[in-house]
Amino acid sequence: MSMTSEERLKWWNEARYGMFIHWGLYAVLAGEWNGQRTKGIGEWIMRDLKIPITEYEKLAAQFNPVKFNADEWAQVAQDAGMKYLVITSKHHDGFCMFNSPSNPYNIVNRTPFKRDPMKELAAACNKRGIKMCFYYSQDLDWHAPGGAGHWEEAVEGPNWLNYARPKEDFQKYLDDVVKPNLRELLTNYGPIGLIWFDVPVTVTKEQSESLRDLVHELQPACLVSGRIGNDVGDYGSLGDNEHPIGKIEGAWETPATLNDTWGFKHFDHNWKSVDFLLDLLVNCVSKGVNYLLNVGPTAEGVIPQPSVERLREVGQWLKRNGEAVYGSQASPFFTDPAWGRVTTKGNTIYLLVKIWSNDGVKLRGLTNKVVSARVLGADQAHVTFNQQGDTVSFTLPDQAPEKTVSVVAVKLDGPAKADQCVFVETGGFAQLPVQLADIQGSALKVQRTRGIEGWNDTSYAVSWTLRVDKPGDYEVRVITIVNRKHPEEFGNHEVRVDIGQCSVAGNAGTRDMKPPTDERVFGNVTSVLGKIKLAPGDQTLSIRAVKLDPTAKRGLRLMAVELHPVKSH
Ligand code: GLC
Repeated sequence: MSMTSEERLKWWNEARYGMFIHWGLYAVLAGEWNGQRTKGIGEWIMRDLKIPITEYEKLAAQFNPVKFNADEWAQVAQDAGMKYLVITSKHHDGFCMFNSPSNPYNIVNRTPFKRDPMKELAAACNKRGIKMCFYYSQDLDWHAPGGAGHWEEAVEGPNWLNYARPKEDFQKYLDDVVKPNLRELLTNYGPIGLIWFDVPVTVTKEQSESLRDLVHELQPACLVSGRIGNDVGDYGSLGDNEHPIGKIEGAWETPATLNDTWGFKHFDHNWKSVDFLLDLLVNCVSKGVNYLLNVGPTAEGVIPQPSVERLREVGQWLKRNGEAVYGSQASPFFTDPAWGRVTTKGNTIYLLVKIWSNDGVKLRGLTNKVVSARVLGADQAHVTFNQQGDTVSFTLPDQAPEKTVSVVAVKLDGPAKADQCVFVETGGFAQLPVQLADIQGSALKVQRTRGIEGWNDTSYAVSWTLRVDKPGDYEVRVITIVNRKHPEEFGNHEVRVDIGQCSVAGNAGTRDMKPPTDERVFGNVTSVLGKIKLAPGDQTLSIRAVKLDPTAKRGLRLMAVELHPVKSH
């Protein structure tokens, strides 16, 4: 029985929120080896501290997670409101956290624990209706000969991904290690929701397809994550902790950490607040993106208490407001409102209000008729509203039901539709990100988080449709991205912004760059072009490069244009 990605994604689009678990021999080291603390993520300690294979293998004899209790872990996921659970069955260190007859480097054969935690976890998840899923590193393998990044093969240098092709045959590794493992994972543990592949640095398109086909042959309904490589997954995987700007077509998922590591590090206490976690979850689902939030259990088999507490609080919020999350789709609006985010489901839109004020909240551009509105949670308090032209104003009850994000469910006369434009409201600031722009230029490529690439031609332009409420003066600012270590590659360009009869031109680039105040490599630069007068009504704002800096090999790396109201004296 062959299935389409769309059919496989049905449960996944309903789930929206899952638990990621990074658990392996690296938990024994907990971020430290030979008195040295790794600066990297916990599960990369073998690579980052250059631990020889023979040394790392000794960890197996110390791995005895006597406190591991599958039901407790599955209960944490259930209390968190997470609908699927993705656990590392084999990470880049090559150690199998499951009973693998084909690969003796595994938890049953090599540790005093001798049990198969994946088997126990699959049963605990099935009992609770949580989809059991496996993370599997199909490319990097620092233990098995033929695996990419096999220790002796690793090429030192700035780009750690620049592995020499392993001496042994990578295809042989796929045939002898990966495929037998996939057969075991998809035969011995019941129905599996998805295989979360990762770091496709070596795998060719044919090889990615062969792995995908094997998964679908063994379990047709099992999803394959985007990191299988070569765009052959059933859905796309955003970067680690990457939060989408603007809508992205298709099915996507953000993997995210609760602190700054996936695998346990005993000294990483940088836990995100519940408030921030909710913002991230709400932002993801408002773009139709799934949120896969990670826990890193200890070598004893315990999920760190700070993780449990935060997940439980978000889970409580979901008990009261999950209607706005589970099975929801991306906001129908072109941009996010200042007061929060929006999701939609059927004939209802959900206002996920972070800034709850007596002034109420406003929606711009809705082309449906509002039928009714109620507050979720609380006593389902009725919300009054006034719909005029392209604006609906909602009057909110004095008391917000939640201390973080409160939800108003708005029933419409049909599936939500909205004008796709950016509203420039009187006295309001407007940001025009390239992710929302119309692109005119064959070589232009919008990067999800790093702006536009390939702008090396003055015939190119990007534009946005604006709806300006009242005439007014605005200062035009151009935001470009720059690699602070190589600013010369980004240079200085002469750009011009046109709207209606007005235009303003000036320099955009590193000339305006302030000295970096942190270690981040990439940073944004704001260049002020000057002032323009906006007439009221719908119009197109466009930006083009009048003169490109010939020394800047990266071209004009535009991130956004901003319009800041100028106070009229
Ligand atoms: C990166 C890391 C890997 C981690 C994954 C989680 O790919 O290399 O260690 O499992 O992110 O998204």
